[in-house]
Order: sequence, then C-alpha cells, then structure tokens
Amino acid sequence: MNGVNEIRAAFLDFFRKHDHEIVASSPLVPRNDPTLMFTNAGMVQFKNLFTGIEKRPYSRASTAQKCVRAGGKHNDLDNVGYTARHHTFFEMLGNFSFGDYFKPVAIELAWKLITQVFDLPKDRLLVTVYHDDDEAFDLWKKIAGFPDSKIIRIATSDNFWAMGDTGPCGPCSEIFFDQGDKLFGGPPGSADEDGDRFLEFWNLVFMQYEQRGPGDRIALPKPSIDTGMGLERIAALLQGVTSNYDIDLMRTLILAVAQATGVDPDGPMRASHRVIADHLRASSFLIADGVLPSNEGRGYVLRRIMRRAMRHAQLLGAEEPLMWRLVPALTREMGQAYPELLRAEALVVETLRLEESRFRATLARGLSMLEEETRSLGEGGILSGEIAFRLYDTYGFPLDLTQDALRNRNLSVDTEGFTRAMERQRAEARKAWSGSGEAATDTHWFALREQLGPSEFLGYETEKAEAFVQALLQDGTRVDHLDAGQKGVLILNQTPFYGESGGQVGDTGHIIAPGMRFKVENTQKKLGDLFIHEGVVEEGSVTPGLEVRTLVDHQRRSAVRANHSATHLLHEALRQVLGDHVAQKGSLVTPERLRFDFSHPKPVTPEEWQKIEDIANRIILENAPVATTQMSIEDAMGSGARALFGEKYGEEVRVVSMGYDEEKATDPTEPLSPFSVELCGGTHVTRTGDIGLLTIVSEGPVAAGVRRIEAKTGSAARHHLNARANVLHTLLMQLKSPEEEAGKRLASLIEERRKLDRDLSDARKKLAMKGDGESTTTWREIDGIKFFPHVVTGVDMKDLKSLVDQAKQTIGSGVVAVIGVAEDGKASVVIGVTNDLIDRFDAVSLVRIAAEPLGGKGGGGRKDMAQAGGPNGQAAEASLAAVEAALHTVLAAS
Ligand code: ALA
Repeated sequence: MNGVNEIRAAFLDFFRKHDHEIVASSPLVPRNDPTLMFTNAGMVQFKNLFTGIEKRPYSRASTAQKCVRAGGKHNDLDNVGYTARHHTFFEMLGNFSFGDYFKPVAIELAWKLITQVFDLPKDRLLVTVYHDDDEAFDLWKKIAGFPDSKIIRIATSDNFWAMGDTGPCGPCSEIFFDQGDKLFGGPPGSADEDGDRFLEFWNLVFMQYEQRGPGDRIALPKPSIDTGMGLERIAALLQGVTSNYDIDLMRTLILAVAQATGVDPDGPMRASHRVIADHLRASSFLIADGVLPSNEGRGYVLRRIMRRAMRHAQLLGAEEPLMWRLVPALTREMGQAYPELLRAEALVVETLRLEESRFRATLARGLSMLEEETRSLGEGGILSGEIAFRLYDTYGFPLDLTQDALRNRNLSVDTEGFTRAMERQRAEARKAWSGSGEAATDTHWFALREQLGPSEFLGYETEKAEAFVQALLQDGTRVDHLDAGQKGVLILNQTPFYGESGGQVGDTGHIIAPGMRFKVENTQKKLGDLFIHEGVVEEGSVTPGLEVRTLVDHQRRSAVRANHSATHLLHEALRQVLGDHVAQKGSLVTPERLRFDFSHPKPVTPEEWQKIEDIANRIILENAPVATTQMSIEDAMGSGARALFGEKYGEEVRVVSMGYDEEKATDPTEPLSPFSVELCGGTHVTRTGDIGLLTIVSEGPVAAGVRRIEAKTGSAARHHLNARANVLHTLLMQLKSPEEEAGKRLASLIEERRKLDRDLSDARKKLAMKGDGESTTTWREIDGIKFFPHVVTGVDMKDLKSLVDQAKQTIGSGVVAVIGVAEDGKASVVIGVTNDLIDRFDAVSLVRIAAEPLGGKGGGGRKDMAQAGGPNGQAAEASLAAVEAALHTVLAAS
C-alpha cells in the first residue's frame, strides 16, 4: 500500500467508508475565489460551503486536491529544489465537514486512519494545538492517550490556519512524526523546530471564523472541519524516506530527467533534478487547467516556474529543450488520478517545447551577462537592481530566476533597485501612450488601466467565477456606488465575460452578490485587456471592493462559441472550394448567426455552396478536438496559421486549430494535419461536434470583389431548415403533388397560365374591336380622310398598340386614335397614322393634343405611332373630339 497512487486511494477509501462524498479535485485556477491566484489547499473549492453561501447535497466530503503554492500568501517557489519538502505543485488529501462533525469526530477519524490504516507507530507521533484550545488538548489526550508532553500548545499563527487575507479560518492542530535522531531538529515550538526530524504531515483545521477584511472576523454559521495532509509527505513516511523527492512518484520523474540528460540524480546536481521534477508537475498541471505563459498574472507565475526549470535543464547540460520530453513520464504516473492531464497532453507538450526553444535563445546570453556583472562581486555581494532589470527586460529572466542563479554563490539582488527600474520603464511607456493618437479619445481608460492593471480573462475555461469590483463608472465618470435602476460600468479584477473583439460579440449575463444583482448587457475590452461590463443594477447596490459572482449567459455563449468555431471551418472550406485567393475581409459572430466577408470575384454557384457546406459538416461530424495553443507570432506563421492581414498582433498569439485534414494526408504514418489553424482570441467549442450542424443561409455581394456569406449552426440551423421544409410542405399541399413531381407540376402550371394569358388577351382584343356598345366602333370620313376613334376598357395597356395596328389595317388609309381606360380611371392614348399620310399628319403632335384633356403632358413616339397618358379617363370622348378638331384644322389649312 506504499505507492503514491495507492496511498491516495486508501485515504479516499477510508473516508468514503465513513460517509464522505468523494469529490474530484477542483481546477488550479479557483473558480470561486477572486482573492486567490491558485488553488492552494483542499478547502478552496468548499469555501462557500463553510461560509454558508452555497449548499450541496452532502455535509461530509473528501478529496485529493491538486495545489500550487507559488505567488500569493503561500509561496514556496524560492525554496523548491533545495529542501526536502517544498514544492510548487503538490497534492493535498483532505476530509471536510460542513457543519456536520467537529473536533471530536475529526480527531477520532484522523487517529484511526494514521494508526490503523497507515499503521504509523503511536510512540513516534505527537501533535500541536492552538495555545488556548483546551478542548482539542483534552480530546487528543483521551483519543490517542498522549501524555501532556506530546500535545504541544502553540500560540503563533502556525496553529491558526487562514486561506488568505480573507476567507474561512480557525485554530488548528497539526500531527507530527518523529523521524528519529538521525535527522537534525527539535519538536514544534522548540528553537530547532525548523529541522527535518519532526515532520508535520497532517493539519486539522477547526473552521470557526470567516475573516472578511483586516480586523473584521465573524463566526461561521456552523463550526466545520477542514484537514490537509500532504500526499508527498505521508508517502515519504510510509516509504521510509526522509525527502519528498525520494518517494516513488518524484523518483520516477527525477530518473526521467537523469535519463534524458545523463547526469547523476544524486550527485552535486541533485537540486537541479528536483527543481525540474517539481516544476514539470506545476507547469503541466497549470497548462492543463488553461493557464498559458504570459507576462501578466497567473501566466507570468507559470512562466517564472517554467523558466526556472529551463535554466536548471541548461545547468544539466541539456542541449535541446528538455521539459516537453518528460511529459509522458508524468502522465504515466498521474494521468489516471487526473484525467485532465491526459486530455491536455498535446497542449502541455507543445507549450513547454515552444517556451523552452524560445527561452533558450536568450538564456545563454543572459547568463553570460550575469556572469560578467557578478565576476567582481565577493561572497555576500549584491547585484544591482538595474542589471537584474536589464536581464528581465532583455533576456526574459524573471527576478527569481536571477536570484536562483546567484543562490549557490551566496549573492543576492537589490530588489528595491529592480522595482525602481521597473517603475521607471512603466512611466516612460505611459508618456509614450499620452503622445499617441489613441490617448485623446480614450484618456480615462488609460488612467484606469494604469491604476487597476489588466483584467484577467477566465472565460476560455469557465463561465462562472468570483471576482471583486475594482471600479464603477457612470456616464464615463468614476463613482463610489451604483444603485438599483442605475446604468453603469463595472470593472472587476478577473472575469469570464468575453469582451467584444475579433468579430465576436461581448458576453451578457449577471454579476451578483448577496442582495445585489447587476445585469450585464454588453462586455467590451479597452486597451486590449481592460474588460468593462456595461449594464444596469437590477437589485441592491454595488460598491468598489464588493466580492461578486459572475455568471455568463450560458446558452448565448454556447451559441456564440459554436458560431465562432463554425466561422473557422467555413473559412477553410471556402478556400478549399473557391481557391487560395479567399481571404477574410470581415466577420461577425453573434448567438443567432455568423457572417463572413471574403474576397472572391463572382457569385458562389449552387454547386460550390453545396460543397462548402459538405466540407464544413464533415469536420463537424468528425467531432475532432479543438486545440488552443499560445506561441510566438513567428512560430504561428511558421505553422501555417491563418492570420488577418494588417491586424496588429502581440508577441504572443493564441492559435486555434480544429479538425483533421484527411484530404491533405499523403503519408499514412504521419499524424493528420489540422483542418483549420487560425490566430484567434475568441471562444470556441471543445469538439467540432458541439457545432451540431452548419447551414449557409445566404450569399451575396457587399463590395467590389467581396462576397458575404451568412450561416447558422446548431438549433438555429435546424430551425432555419425546418422553416424551409414547412414552406415546401405548404407548397406541395397547394400543388397537390408529391415532392418528386412538384417541379414538373409547377412548370406545366406556369405554361398553362401563359397560354391562358395569351388566349385571354386575344379574346379581349377581338371583343374590343367588335365594340361593347359603349364606344364608337367604326371609322368615319373627315374631308376624305378616314378617322377611327375608339375607347376601350378591359384591355391591357400594352395591347393598345396592337389594336391600333389592327385598325390601321382595317381602314387601309387614315388616322386611328384608341384610348384605353383602366380600372383605376387612368387613361392611355395611342395614335396611329397610316404610312401614306405621314406627310400630312404627325402622330406625335396628335397624341400631345389628345393627352391634354386626359390631364397628361407630353407623349412620344414616331410619326406613324405615338403614345401618351393621363389621369382623367372620364375625358376620353373629349380627347377624341380634340383629335378630330385637330384633323379638321390641318385639312382646312391644306
Ligand atoms: N487548509 C489546511 C491546510 O492547507 C488544511 O493546511
């Protein structure tokens, strides 16, 4: 039962048998605590259960929790590798009671586990209690049968445990194991307590209070229990070794380092092996939980850990990047207990490899500069802060890497000088800002960004998180509260809300606290990393410093995610079908649909449209993972990632790849290359199958050489297709035809209708020529010239001319005037003059005369046929009379 994996299982099994719910480890980036950088204890995920804000169906739980202590209150980074106990990453085994049992049961269970399951000899055990905790003292006496000398009262903070500056806390009782006098050290509370002989391996915290701020401590609703046993420590005890680094798991990792470098793991370079083994775990688990190396916040702590390990790899003489090659050894050891590590293996490998290749480029030069600058320093000397800053700024050396490099030579760094140099550089950057054009419109954002720092974005991994309010704005001005009904802007220290960018709309949702509810109507990003939440207070009021819970509208965000990933698929499918000239010209990703503008000179044909849809849907059906990595812009371009021309990218870019490209595969032994690789800061689905379905809803022109395609995914696509199917169904019902014959049926209906139209128009013309009793139907002679005046109704205006032609034929020689009166009373008039008379009469002049009584103006045509119109159909007879009078006049004059 000695291996780490077995010990972990035995611990959980013991508490399962004692009615504890076994809860999975929470991520290293706390979802529920804005004040913590990393999950640093088992109780972090239960914080709100202790304080009573949150309820769960169980009141006893047990976990094996992954923890990182680097940065923040519990920071062990500096010592790691040089001591037997310190880690950046470790596992904490714990049992918890949320208002269920308290001290007596907690102590009893602990005693039973260590003496009966782990079989630790009683005479080697001893405990501490908080100095005034008589209850715990008496319980240990009773349950363990310890003499007073083995229950040590401690008055310091060592026996009062607190998660951070705020949060649940309480007195605690620590359990120690005496490893014997072969090791130096005294019992807790003695002058030599820091020695290794007496090993603390389990801390029982009697959670009784909540620290809400400096000097503000209240009692928890119900006393609770939180315990933490360092898995590496108990493993060391059970395996009879005196260093955590000698337990089976750590030893496997150290041997992997030794094998890769050929350096003796137990010789003078022992610390370097340990640093690498420890930092490999921290880095891999952090990356698996979504942290990527960066120059700010959590990403920077990760970078510091990675680079510290990478320097030690270099010390071991590794010629090539080393860390990534160790990942398989780690996943073999820990992948079963933490499947997230297996899922993220490719990402971990890639991130480590890229960071190390890049850092190696400057590491050697930085180290030789450091060598040079310290050559003259004697033992105990201090390196100037300026130089340390130059190493940081030029060679990417985090301060602790420089300190670590000087440690063996007993040199240190002037950290104040380092901070001063850093401040000075910031001030210069600020000056550069205020000179830039952007500053004029965005000055208050610059000031805010400067004061508050960047907002940490958590939204790639989570949609819910805790945060605190850093600032409030109303109409662009800082205010110290926003009350119910007021609109304004909230700025938080960290947020899962996506700020509008890259075509993807900003998230909406709620920001809440007990008694307060703020509706987020939009989220925007200012200056690249300041997230502002715009909305309205629906209930209560908000003040700066308030701890809040952020809830992104999940359904809306899921739809946006699907549409964003679908945009990438569409982009690649367009290129494959239309050609490489297709370049993104614009994009909009909303929950309802996606819009993509691209360069292409002509309309997309129905066949191309179909192919594009087919390809995109093939990748969706593959249900392939969507992978995100962070890399330098050069590496990203080298990998063939699509980027937007003219877009400004930072040094580090996020690369999103999805699907497999079976078409491109030529060598079956090579891994398939990804279907789509793009630089993108947006949020995406985890697997392409999450998109469900993609359907193009429209395609058309937007500008010369630019087309716009719109598409829908998932349910929206289904609704769109359903609506179309419904239309079809209705049409078929009306056509009274099965689907296969609908086309033929419709064509014959159209043909039939054309024929009927023709017949009808012929019949009307005939009828009109025969007269309908209301109009003059024959011609008459005017001074030897035939005049044919005629008024018709019910004849299409376009048929008037053919009526005039017919009349001209009938009379052989003469003048024809036909007025058609439409149903709405408007009139059209056509005048025809037979060819033999066009020297004497002009149809154009005549039609103008005819148009006047009709209320029309102008008219046009040729000498033999002209047309005009007017609104007054009732004046048709008057119009004909006017034409007749004009004929008289012309004839009289000739
Ligand atoms: N939360 C306690 C600790 O971390 C158990 O020591």
